[in-house]
Amino acid sequence: MLRSFGQIRKDPLQYLVRTNAEFGPIVQFPIPRPPSYLIADAAAARRVLVTHARAYDKHTLQYSSLSLVTGEGLLTSDGDVWRRQRRLVQPAFHHEAIHAVGGHVARALQRLEGSWRQLPPRGAIVDLDDLLMRITLEVVGSSLFGTDLSGAAHRLTEATLSALDVVIARARVPVTPPSWIPTPANRKLRTAVRTLDEAVDGMVAVRQAEAIGSRPTDMLDLLLAPDADGDRLSTAEIRNQVVTFIVAGHETVASALSWAMWLISGDDDVQDRLALEAHDVLGSNAVSMDDLPRLPFARAVLDEALRLYPPAWLVTRRSLVDDELGGREVPAGSLIILSPYLVHRDGSAWSEPGRFDPSRFLDVSTRGGDAAVHYWPFGAGPRLCIGREFALAEGTLLLAGIARRVHVARDRGVPGPRAVPLVTIRPSTGLPLVVTRRD
Ligand code: HEM
Repeated sequence: MLRSFGQIRKDPLQYLVRTNAEFGPIVQFPIPRPPSYLIADAAAARRVLVTHARAYDKHTLQYSSLSLVTGEGLLTSDGDVWRRQRRLVQPAFHHEAIHAVGGHVARALQRLEGSWRQLPPRGAIVDLDDLLMRITLEVVGSSLFGTDLSGAAHRLTEATLSALDVVIARARVPVTPPSWIPTPANRKLRTAVRTLDEAVDGMVAVRQAEAIGSRPTDMLDLLLAPDADGDRLSTAEIRNQVVTFIVAGHETVASALSWAMWLISGDDDVQDRLALEAHDVLGSNAVSMDDLPRLPFARAVLDEALRLYPPAWLVTRRSLVDDELGGREVPAGSLIILSPYLVHRDGSAWSEPGRFDPSRFLDVSTRGGDAAVHYWPFGAGPRLCIGREFALAEGTLLLAGIARRVHVARDRGVPGPRAVPLVTIRPSTGLPLVVTRRD
């Protein structure tokens, strides 16, 4: 284990892949405390996430680091606190609320298309990763507080990203000073968190003073509303949810789309089919949610990118009671490390698991792998991603909207990106691709 530390720090994803290949689907790491297991066995993972979910909580290093930014929000809370939050937050993800995502994507695409008109006829190199990070931030921002005109939304997103930087940097070193010691990183974190708190307080105060119905509803309005029993989230809880949505709903979608663009840039048949479908369905109209059911191939490309590069590459839990996973006894208090990356590439469940083949998601009978067990990019069970429909709608429309306008190709001689696992799996060098207009 000591010998492996360098490797774990350098490339944790490949470390997991090698450990799984060498020691099998259930591995106990030889560290004294807590007992720690890597579980790549799909049935055992399902037990943890779905059938015995109540025997596991999220009291792990991964989630406690994240909560330095998100506080006790939906992603990091447990038990009764989580159950109440999920009930109060759910309306913000209901059908009508998700429907608005189409309009936000359409506006983002419109601006993008404007910039593509400047592309020279032979195309230009564009960092798609950077571009997609900006677009997905814009979409989640306008969905949350589309009608905020105070500038607080902008300050809030900037502060969230700055706080997240510190958390990522902390995760990369084995020992970090406690957060109360005023190191430069801790000071940066504290300033960012203070800005976050002030921005949300300001925004909530403005909303509470406003007349209801004076403008279109956004997700923040839905978070502020009480439920049928009059229970409602406090301002502090709203702050935690808002920050959670920015953290959980921006880089994840960008990561999935970046890898989708990388994969199609290496497969012109897939890319042409995607462009043709987009052209047939969308023509030159603005995208809308009504287009979604008619874009099955765009959705399949996204599904396949999420299989090969699941943005949430690591999902952790703590066991609350003694349990048995894949025939191994696992004591209470263990750290359980699950990785959809490993499960999605399991050769016993998927045919040619390393091959990019979106059509496996068009015809369930040829896909191999039982979706509920062998495919869970959004997690599974009670803690299933609340933003799944949001992300799938946004991702499918963005993919189709981009593919109908431009062709992307790899720049010859430039090596492909490595998958770097941070909060999500990101391309190591950004994603510079040659982008050419399809006229
Ligand atoms: C491709 C995009 C996305 C992926 C791959 C993804 C993945 C996941 C996964 C794997 C989990 C479960 C974590 C666990 O069980 O420990 C999760 C939970 C969550 N996600 Fe997503 N997510 C995506 C997009 C979004 C979006 C767009 C939002 C919000 C706008 C969001 C908000 C959340 C929240 C709040 C939770 C916690 C839910 C709960 O525990 O009740 N996610 N996500």
